[in-house]
Amino acid sequence: MSGFKERIFSGAQPTGNLHLGNYLGAIKRWVELQDDHECIYCVVDMHALTISPDPAELAQATRELTAAYLAAGIDPKKNMVFNQSRVIQHAELAWVFNCIARIGWMSRMTQFKDKAGKDRENASLGLFAYPSLMAADILLYRATHVPVGDDQKQHLELTRDIAQKFNNDYSARIADLGIGVEMAVGDETVTGYFPLTEPMISGPAMRIMSLRDGTKKMSKSDPSDLSRINLIDDAETITRKIRKAKTDADAIPSELDGLAGRAEADNLIGIYAALSGISKEAVLRDFGGKQFSEFKSSLADLAVAQMSPITQEMRKLIADPAYIDSVLKDGGERAGVIAEQTMKDVRNIIGWLQN
Ligand code: AMP
Ligand code: TRP
Repeated sequence: MSGFKERIFSGAQPTGNLHLGNYLGAIKRWVELQDDHECIYCVVDMHALTISPDPAELAQATRELTAAYLAAGIDPKKNMVFNQSRVIQHAELAWVFNCIARIGWMSRMTQFKDKAGKDRENASLGLFAYPSLMAADILLYRATHVPVGDDQKQHLELTRDIAQKFNNDYSARIADLGIGVEMAVGDETVTGYFPLTEPMISGPAMRIMSLRDGTKKMSKSDPSDLSRINLIDDAETITRKIRKAKTDADAIPSELDGLAGRAEADNLIGIYAALSGISKEAVLRDFGGKQFSEFKSSLADLAVAQMSPITQEMRKLIADPAYIDSVLKDGGERAGVIAEQTMKDVRNIIGWLQN
């Protein structure tokens, strides 16, 4: 039990090449959650700076990602949709968290190690502190749940560590000000200012793999365009990529066990399951014993039927940048109100004089 109001926060980076993994692992579920939750969906343009994009490309990618959110069905009136840099409190809270988080915690982040590569000394400080800004995104709204793909799990664990250390370090001050909230931690009930946010990572789509190599995740940065289905691909391209997707020579198994050691087969079955909203077991019940050629043509039809309306809507929205900008402005204004309430408390807690 937690005394915090249930609130969903999630975000994606505007870095181009939005793909099926982003859609199934994140955005599609965000749409489902908006019916019965208060949701905040952010385009994290401050995080995008860690890969030093060209300014014109960053602005364009920000609008495109926003268009993708809206085209997928996120309602910008019901929810808050905005780009992160508009609500400057994200940067302010990230600084506070830079002073809470330890260098050792950041050094263990696998995403940092992957992205920094061999020349770690030359990686930007922003790339290193990336998870601290992500914790700030979430905790600025005291969000209780964060729907993301599997690759973000470690960052969400770190977010909890930061919240917990902040709550501990300032426990006396939080109690004095009377602004703590009760929450359960294991068997105990503790009081803190920030919630210990729960990740929402489940279902068949949490880790969509490359269509060319079932051991690598589908990614924006893969040099092979055949490895991913982009949200902007037309029907013909989607069909061609699925037809060319790597598989093995065996037929489709009837049971989950039969997918063991067959990463590419497992991935395509998972994509089918996620697109149609059924379990992988159910897909195998329908296709068990059939050849991949037959399955791929059903999968292509399904993908085109689901993705084409989104792609078309996305193109329409991208052609109206003034509308996109007005959505981001409105979302930013509403998010900014919550953000400022939190920061007022935080400044007070940590002893920053404000008047
Ligand atoms: P990013 O584009 O890296 O900002 O990611 C946006 C969201 O998409 C995050 O929730 C990721 O976890 C999710 N995501 C990215 N790639 C994949 C993938 N291959 N499979 C499932 N989810 C993914
Ligand atoms: N790091 C996330 C990604 O690459 C994007 C992100 C930034 C995010 N801040 C967030 C996701 C807060 C969820 C909540 O996918």
